[in-house]
Amino acid sequence: MKNNMQKNIFWHEHLISREKREKYNKHRSIVIWFTGLSGAGKSSIANHLEKKLFIHGMHTYLLDGDNIRSGLCSDLSFSKTDRKENIRRIGEVAKIMLDAGIITLVSVISPYQNQRTMIYNMLGGVKNVLEVFVDTPISVCEKRDPKKLYQQARSGNIYDFTGIQEEYEIPSNPDIILNGTDALEINSKKIINILYKNHIISFCEN
Ligand SMILES: Nc1ncnc2c1ncn2[C@@H]1O[C@H](COP(=O)(O)OP(=O)(O)O)[C@@H](O)[C@H]1O
Ligand SMILES: [Mg+2]
Repeated sequence: MKNNMQKNIFWHEHLISREKREKYNKHRSIVIWFTGLSGAGKSSIANHLEKKLFIHGMHTYLLDGDNIRSGLCSDLSFSKTDRKENIRRIGEVAKIMLDAGIITLVSVISPYQNQRTMIYNMLGGVKNVLEVFVDTPISVCEKRDPKKLYQQARSGNIYDFTGIQEEYEIPSNPDIILNGTDALEINSKKIINILYKNHIISFCEN
């Protein structure tokens, strides 16, 4: 429903379209959305993959949950309402990046199925999004615990931590499931080859 603030807003068509940008870039744009527990390896895989794409001349950007929370979403808490707003804002930024012709990697826990579905639909579905579930047992994540967040959640210093007090809903229909204990090289290659198969990029890896 349009509220008063929105009703006098009119969409302005731009002269430079996504298609023109994609043609200029010599690759298609897409959002690669990594979901998984804290410590699953989302940021590590996304970084590794982005470097590979970048070296091959692709136009890329990585939206990392933690970094976004220090800027665009620094006003948000980890309450259910704010988590939803966090995901919505990241989704909206990713949508702009898609239009800008960029291969955008998003690494954010995104624990709830209905919010992931909302993003999938917002971005235009399967042709624009690759949902990647980084599947790492919580026991492994807790052992890694580089930021000592699990430790703090267990001791009660953090009371709304995903996987401990808050639920992480396993993705119902991800485009790919990665084993978060596999080497970064293996997981990056898997995604590169999907991008190639889907005609997003024109190179693959053996
Ligand atoms: N495949 C892997 N094998 C071993 N350690 C890993 C692997 N992937 C990530 N890690 C380590 O696990 C920790 C958490 O990874 P990170 O990418 O920050 O997870 P997330 O972004 O999902 O929270 C880091 O210390 C990272 O170095
Ligand atoms: Mg991370």
